Amino acid sequence: MSEKILIGVAWPYANGPLHLGHIAGAYLPADIFARYHRLKGNEVLMVSGSDQHGTPITIKAEQEGKKPGEVVGEYYRQFLDSWQKLGISFDLFTTTGTANHAEVAQDIFLTLLDRGYIYKSTMSQPFCPNCQRFLPDRYVEGTCPYCQSPGARGDQCDKCGKPMTVEELINPHCRICGSTPEFRDSEHFFLKLSAFEDRLAAWVEKQDQWRPNVLNLTRRYLKEGLRDRAITRDINWGVPVPVEGFENKRLYVWFEAVIGYLSASKEWARSTGDSEKWRSFWQGYAKGYYFIGKDNIPFHTLIWPAMLMGYGDLNLPYDVPANEFLTIEGRKLSTSQNWAVWVPDYLSRYDPDPLRYLLSINMPETGDTDFSWREFIRRNNDELVATYGNLVNRVLTFTYRNFDGHVPEHSRYGEIRKYLDINEDLDTTGMRNIVDRNSFDIIENAKEFLFLEAGDLISKCNFKQALLKIMMVARDTNQYLDGKSPWKIIKEDKQAAADSLYVALYVISCLKTALYPFLPFSSQKVHEYLGFEGKVEDYGWRPTVPEPGQKLLFPKPLFVKLDEKLAEEESRRLGHALHK
Ligand code: MF3
Ligand code: ZN
Repeated sequence: MSEKILIGVAWPYANGPLHLGHIAGAYLPADIFARYHRLKGNEVLMVSGSDQHGTPITIKAEQEGKKPGEVVGEYYRQFLDSWQKLGISFDLFTTTGTANHAEVAQDIFLTLLDRGYIYKSTMSQPFCPNCQRFLPDRYVEGTCPYCQSPGARGDQCDKCGKPMTVEELINPHCRICGSTPEFRDSEHFFLKLSAFEDRLAAWVEKQDQWRPNVLNLTRRYLKEGLRDRAITRDINWGVPVPVEGFENKRLYVWFEAVIGYLSASKEWARSTGDSEKWRSFWQGYAKGYYFIGKDNIPFHTLIWPAMLMGYGDLNLPYDVPANEFLTIEGRKLSTSQNWAVWVPDYLSRYDPDPLRYLLSINMPETGDTDFSWREFIRRNNDELVATYGNLVNRVLTFTYRNFDGHVPEHSRYGEIRKYLDINEDLDTTGMRNIVDRNSFDIIENAKEFLFLEAGDLISKCNFKQALLKIMMVARDTNQYLDGKSPWKIIKEDKQAAADSLYVALYVISCLKTALYPFLPFSSQKVHEYLGFEGKVEDYGWRPTVPEPGQKLLFPKPLFVKLDEKLAEEESRRLGHALHK
């Protein structure tokens, strides 16, 4: 039976380009997962959008002398372009700036207010007497009490990384005009997280499928006790608070951004012509997966679930496969110091699949991992070009040249075909009597390692292990061919050459399906070189058996070898003049 899989991916702030940390942390694993489930025949809804509210956006706009709306519009278009070029296959990538999002966020706010899960209270806030406005934490600057550097903000010091409060800053001043702020009382709404503590604790303990890091961090927060949180701010950029007297305030960006998963699902449903269709992904047997970086864990394992519990009738997250961080050339990624590899910049020089490959095989699933250009080039050359690309290229060109551009017929094709066709569960044990031992092993392994084991690993969000398994099959197939040497025996025994080439073509056909979640662009090419029509995705998560006589396309090399000198050149770009 087909499953319903909702895939929510963290909403990137629309205040700067995407970098490799974003891709390895959330977008690539989400996309691998989505493509796998679509191949399995499951129904997938993968949504996200740009997070366009909050002070990260208004500060960026000020720095560039633009309106917040202009800044978020530019980055929204850039994000869409990056998704398309990288093959991140959203069903909808929207923004938090839509009327629909405001409506859904306000509905949740009012429902929680009505049920007593949101209440009004007063808090003391920094206020600039000169600008005559309240100042968000990031708008108060001063000297860091920990490292004495002058440019610290009221939420954090960028120099030493310590988080802090406005009260702790030495010599606090307004970042707009430089005046010293005062503190004034301001009325705000609070989310009563404390009311959900017991229910959340009981729910969290049942989530065996969560990764240990996600579970442990969540438990730690619960143990410290959940404090009620202010969910409105004294700013004018954001979703309006639907209560009289709050015209000059907005919903706090984190409160409304997580609601984006639901509002985007509703927007998607409307675009399909069936505005109730979102329900099948949010109610009943549907499972919700949220792909995020580790800094977003509590928002997805505690706050959003609390909001959903209070609102009712909607599924809580099934899994939150948060990734750890990606360091760059051994150092913590820093956007302000330009210690980052930017996606548009990468895409201007290289293909998407080699990056998808490296970030998958080196995914920060259980701990931080490092991106280095040397490793990128090495894996591209040794694994993509030499192992997989070479397998595809040598088998296809040789077959094309010696069998008149068509798939040759295996001497036992009839039996193999019958065998593969009648075995819906892909059981190939009966093949033992049909082909030789080596051919049997390689056919059997394609089933076992690719469609059963790697598939199982992907379904459990163990992407790195799945890819290792798949690459092992590619290596074994190269070895199989070296043993069979069709290139040598073709002169004496054309049929024997045809037999081993057919087996190799069959495994390549399996590999392109298993690799499709990771390397969608090259898989589609292999699909076409093998003479299949349509899209890889149309053929499902199972072997696609080439038919004898099927017309091949003469292949171009799948991947290009990269010069090792590029590593130095690329590394030199890091940490220099700020990239826009
Ligand atoms: N914009 C936030 C960030 O970049 C992520 C928001 S995820 C959401 O850290 F779920 F809240 F939308
Ligand atoms: Zn001021």
